Amino acid sequence: MAGMMRQVVLAAYARGNPRPSDFRIEQVPIPEAGEREILLKTLWLALDPLIRFSIDEKLLSGATHMQLGEVMFGPTVSEVVASNHPDYAVGDFVEGRTGWREYAIVAPDRSDYRGPPRKLDPGLAPVSTALGALGGPGQTAHEGIVTVGRVKPGETVVISAAAGAVGSIAGQIAKVLGARAVGIAGGPDKCRALRDLGFDAAVDYKAADFADQFKAALPDGADVYLDNVGGDVTLAVLPLLNRGARMPMCGYIAYYGVGMEGPGPDHLPGFYRHIMAKGLEIKGFAGIFAGQKGLDDIAGWMKQGKIRFPEAVVEGLEAAPEAFASVFSGNAHVGKLLVRVADKA
Ligand SMILES: NC(=O)c1ccc[n+]([C@@H]2O[C@H](COP(=O)([O-])OP(=O)(O)OC[C@H]3O[C@@H](n4cnc5c(N)ncnc54)[C@H](OP(=O)(O)O)[C@@H]3O)[C@@H](O)[C@H]2O)c1
Repeated sequence: MAGMMRQVVLAAYARGNPRPSDFRIEQVPIPEAGEREILLKTLWLALDPLIRFSIDEKLLSGATHMQLGEVMFGPTVSEVVASNHPDYAVGDFVEGRTGWREYAIVAPDRSDYRGPPRKLDPGLAPVSTALGALGGPGQTAHEGIVTVGRVKPGETVVISAAAGAVGSIAGQIAKVLGARAVGIAGGPDKCRALRDLGFDAAVDYKAADFADQFKAALPDGADVYLDNVGGDVTLAVLPLLNRGARMPMCGYIAYYGVGMEGPGPDHLPGFYRHIMAKGLEIKGFAGIFAGQKGLDDIAGWMKQGKIRFPEAVVEGLEAAPEAFASVFSGNAHVGKLLVRVADKA
C-alpha cells in the first residue's frame, strides 16, 4: 500500500509528569508486508499509565526502556489490510502492541510480545473493548478483585483511581460478587459517573472535605483496598482499613513521575505500623494473571448487563500526546481512555 503515514516518537525523556512536548509526530512511508508478515491499520490506541516507566531517562526496574526517536509503544486494535500469513486474512481485527502509529508491520511467527496478535470477534463486543474491559485493564481488575482481593459478599471494597480503566471495571466486579463498592476519584463529575455505574459511594479526593466524606462513606471501615494510586490517597485509606484487610497493590500512579525515590517526607514508618498492627495482607501484582478465565467472566457479566464498559475517546493520532499527559495531570475522562486513530477500512 503506497503512501505516507504518521507516527509519534519520543522526543524527550519525561521529567516528572509527561508533557505533550516530550513527543513528536513524524511522516514516514507506509511499510510493505514481506513474507509471512501482515500490514495492520491502527483503529484504536490505548494510553496506559505504565508507559510512563519506559520514557524515563533512567532505566526503571522491569520497564522497557525507550530510546529517543523511537516510536512510542502501546496496545492497539487494528485491522489487517494486507496479509502474507495464512492465519490472518484481510479484514480481520486484531489486538497487539504496535504502538502510536497509523500502520504497522507484524511478523506473527516472530512476534515476541505475548505471542502473535490476538484475533478479535467483533460479534462479541465492540473491538475497542479488547483494550479495556475485555483486555489488559479488565484482566487486571479481575485479578485485583477476584484472585488477589478474594472479595466476599457483604464486604466493603475501596478502589482508588476508580474512574479509570481498571477501577471502573473493578468496582462493578465487586458489586457482582455481592460486596459494597466505594470509589475514590478526582472531581464531582467522575464521582457521579461512578455512582451511575453502580458504585455504592464515590468520594472526590480533590474536595476540601475529602477526609470527612471518606469516613462517612465507610461507616464499617474497609475489608479490601484495590490500590491503583499510592501517595496521599493511600495514606487516607490506611487508617480506615479493618483488621486483616487485603490490599491488592495494582499501581502507584501518584509516584510514576518521581523515579525510585519519592520527594519525601518518608511515610514508611506509619505504613509499617498499619501493616503490623492491623495484620494487613498486601500483595503486589503486575502483568496479566487471570488469563482467559478473567476475560470469560467479564464477557459473561457484560452479556447479562451486569458490567458496563465506559470508554473515553479522543480523536486522531495527533491527540495522543496531550491525552497521555492528562492521565497524570488531571482529566475528565471516565473509563478506558482511547485514541480513535482511524475508522475501519
Ligand atoms: N498491576 C498491573 O498489572 C496493572 C495493569 C494495568 C494498570 N495498572 C495500574 O493501575 C492503575 C490504574 O490504571 P488504569 O489503566 O485504570 O489508568 P487510567 O484509566 O489511565 O486512569 C488513571 C487515573 O489515575 C488518576 N490519577 C492520576 N494521578 C493521580 C494521583 N497523583 N493521585 C490520585 N489519582 C491519580 C487519574 O484519575 P483522577 O482524575 O480520578 O485523579 C487518572 O485518570 C495505574 O496505576 C496503572 O499503572 C497496573
